Amino acid sequence: MSEISYKSFAEDSLQPKEFSFNNFNLKKAKEIIKIYPSNYKESSIMPLLSMAQSQNKGWVPKKAIEYISEFIGVPEIKVLELATFYSMYNLSPVGKFHIEVCTTTPCMLRGSDSMLNLCKKKLGIDIGEITKDKTFSLGKVECLGACVNAPVVKINEDYYEDLNSQTFDKLINNLKDNKNVKIGPQSKRMGSEPGKLND
Ligand code: FES
Repeated sequence: MSEISYKSFAEDSLQPKEFSFNNFNLKKAKEIIKIYPSNYKESSIMPLLSMAQSQNKGWVPKKAIEYISEFIGVPEIKVLELATFYSMYNLSPVGKFHIEVCTTTPCMLRGSDSMLNLCKKKLGIDIGEITKDKTFSLGKVECLGACVNAPVVKINEDYYEDLNSQTFDKLINNLKDNKNVKIGPQSKRMGSEPGKLND
């Protein structure tokens, strides 16, 4: 079992020496900061952190926090406090597939504890850890905002919904084998339409 936790800052040996947005993100970042009034520069911190995280394989290095603070001209602490507060920002490397299991009430009533236990047992990791081969990491999160399709699991940027032990187990196997997976409801229902949960 790995002892690496992605919710505390990665050790210095893992931190990149530099960070800056690539050309695509730089263009996007300049458009984002124009959306907000100049006296509310802090409002662009969260989308910029999300871009930095995507660019850096799913985690935010210290250099990205410094870079964003300079980029928009706000104190570093303003960026740091958001990066450390929200569970969606990872401060250390995560697995190729970062699994986040929602355990808030609707998901809990629909079996999220089983999803979490399945992950722990199958992958041999606990919450906040990554597998030795760096393929999977596991997190437990509050409501992902898709309660009607509970239980819900987020893997990287995608949601997987209406899960049960069989469909979740199959999903993990398919990801491990690099097979195509279906995003969204794992039942036959479309989106969040009623009535086809158990089909
Ligand atoms: S409670 Fe799980 S998505 Fe809302």
